[in-house]
Amino acid sequence: MQADVYLIGAGQTRFGEWWGKGLKDLMGEAVDAAMDGAPCSALDVDFIVVANMLAESVSGQAHLGAIASSFLPHRPPAIRVEAACASGSVAVHTACALLESGRAETVLVLGAEKMTDVPGDEIATALMGAADAELDAPSGLTFPGIFGLVAKRYMYEFGLTREELNRVSARHHRNALKNPFAQFRQEIPEEQIGLSPLVADPLRLLDCSPVSDGAAACILSTKFTSDLRIAASQVSTDSVSITERPTLTSFAATKDSSVRAYEEAHIDPTDVSHLELHDCFSIAALLALEDLGFAAPGKGIHWYQSEGTMTVNGSGGLKACGHPVAATGVKQIIDVSKQLRASGKRWGMAHNFGGVGATCSIHLLEHAHA
Ligand code: COA
Repeated sequence: MQADVYLIGAGQTRFGEWWGKGLKDLMGEAVDAAMDGAPCSALDVDFIVVANMLAESVSGQAHLGAIASSFLPHRPPAIRVEAACASGSVAVHTACALLESGRAETVLVLGAEKMTDVPGDEIATALMGAADAELDAPSGLTFPGIFGLVAKRYMYEFGLTREELNRVSARHHRNALKNPFAQFRQEIPEEQIGLSPLVADPLRLLDCSPVSDGAAACILSTKFTSDLRIAASQVSTDSVSITERPTLTSFAATKDSSVRAYEEAHIDPTDVSHLELHDCFSIAALLALEDLGFAAPGKGIHWYQSEGTMTVNGSGGLKACGHPVAATGVKQIIDVSKQLRASGKRWGMAHNFGGVGATCSIHLLEHAHA
């Protein structure tokens, strides 16, 4: 990082099905929650970055930067970024760049998504905008379908069993019991994961993150300080279409952005105590653990066989917290910050990707009181 960027405020709505609330309601709630307790006033915010993927197709609303700006009395300049499910973390990255360049001193980052107002087939089609519209979508694939192919291939290459895969969602659901902001807060026994309805072979309902509404906001600053610093912020990309990939069982953008993040923060994977990873589908958690350097290829499941030295998705992850796509990357930063403060540990990581890992953004947070 070219400057010391501190996380000085954070807040979110609970993720879930918010049929009585519109996108603007959710955005406003998250902004209020982030401002509440921050050491600055609303007037200190000199830039806003909004993350959103689907507002045009679900809510008929574009121009979200100006909408977010209207929540603050002085209407600071505001922009929107979109990188599919990685929109939230790419917005954080954009805010870091504004702060590092000196263009802004205090930036509000707001990730928001409203997904449950349209039928499931419409949202599945809209989400396919994150894949390649010419190369992937015409085959009829959906995101559960694509990750079903990834899971099939992974099971073929590494011998992962259905029983082993059950452990991933079961662990994430158990972790969410402690999280009041999670969409689903019930313990689900391992066997029940593998018995839930088939969605896209071999993935079942309880392997999939749900369709959710929600918003999350954080305030980053070089002017005001806190006990939490963004020590690394990286974004990498890969081909959007899976037809142009050499492998389905590893995501190059995750590898690349994590290597650069470790270098930027001068740490290695063994230093990380809390990891929030992008488990849009259970199989994605295993790829992430391997691509981030926490496990050898095919061995990611080891993190779910016993409690390890690092917490993995202590919040409940996308599976249990819900996945309002552009809010997720911001919410992960909030969860890592809470976990670092609670444990007193030094390093936490947020891993957020869009599409089939085509955009990956990694953030490393350093807790000063460790
Ligand atoms: N985990 C746990 N419970 C879930 C769930 C999930 N992922 N999805 C739905 N449920 C629950 C619902 O709350 C509902 O419970 P209820 O009957 O007690 O109210 C029940 O299961 C049926 O839900 P419903 O919404 O009818 O399911 P659906 O068949 O329409 O959708 C999926 C299920 C998995 C197809 C949908 O959640 C999905 O497409 N998820 C993936 C989203 C995605 O691709 N995101 C982008 C990732 S890159």
